[in-house]
Amino acid sequence: MDGNGRWASKRGLPRHAGHAKGAEVFRRIATECKEMGVEYLTVYAFSTENNSRPEDEVKAIWGLLRKYLLESIEKMEKDGIRLKFLGDLDILPPEYLELVSKTNEISARVSGMQANVCFNYGGRDEIVRAVKRLGGAEVTEKSLSDAMDTAGIPDPDLLIRPGGEKRLSNFLLWQSAYAEMVFTDTLWPDFTKSDLVAAFKEYTERNRRFGGVKS
Ligand code: IPE
Ligand code: MG
Repeated sequence: MDGNGRWASKRGLPRHAGHAKGAEVFRRIATECKEMGVEYLTVYAFSTENNSRPEDEVKAIWGLLRKYLLESIEKMEKDGIRLKFLGDLDILPPEYLELVSKTNEISARVSGMQANVCFNYGGRDEIVRAVKRLGGAEVTEKSLSDAMDTAGIPDPDLLIRPGGEKRLSNFLLWQSAYAEMVFTDTLWPDFTKSDLVAAFKEYTERNRRFGGVKS
C-alpha cells in the first residue's frame, strides 16, 4: 500500500494524514475484493525497515493499527472478513497483542475472505524466523513453507504495487516466486475499484507457465 506520504505531501498535509486515508482505502478495497470473490487478500502495512522512519510517523502508523483492530473487533463478523497478521508482532505492546488475539478468536468463527495484514513484516526476516522455527528439522520447500507466517495460505496469484515504484521491498519474497506482478502509478490513497479491476484484467491476459511450456 505505497504512496501514502506523497499523497499527503501533494495536499500540504502531514504524512500521517496519508496513512490515515490509506487505512480507510484498505477497508474499502478489502470489501470490494470480497464482493469480487477474492479468497485471500494480503496487504503490506508496515515493514521491518519502516522502523527506521521518524518516531512520530512510526507511532502514527501503530496508532492506526490499534484503531483498525478496535474497529475490526466490532465489525469482522458482520463484514464476513477474517483477519490474520503476518510478521514479527513481538515488538508490539501487550495491549496490541491482546487485541490481535481477540481478532484471531473472532476470525476462527468467521467464514469469508481472509485479509492478511503484514505488520513489522519483512520477507527475509520471515524466512529467518521460519528456519529457526524448524529447529534443526529437515529443510524442504514444504517444511519451510509450513514454518512461514503464511503457513496454510496459498501463494499469491497476483501482486499489485501501487505508488509507482517497481520493486518488492522485501514483501512475500518466498511466496511470490510465481506471482504475476502489476505495477501502477496510482498512489494507494487514490486507489479505487477501477484500479483493482484493471489489475485483474491485466492478470487474466497473462500466460502463466510456472516454468513449463504453454499447453
Ligand atoms: C506506504 O506509504 C505506507 C507505509 C510504508 C507504512 P509511504 O509512507 O511509503 O508513502 P510514500 O512512498 O512516502 O509516498
Ligand atoms: Mg513508500
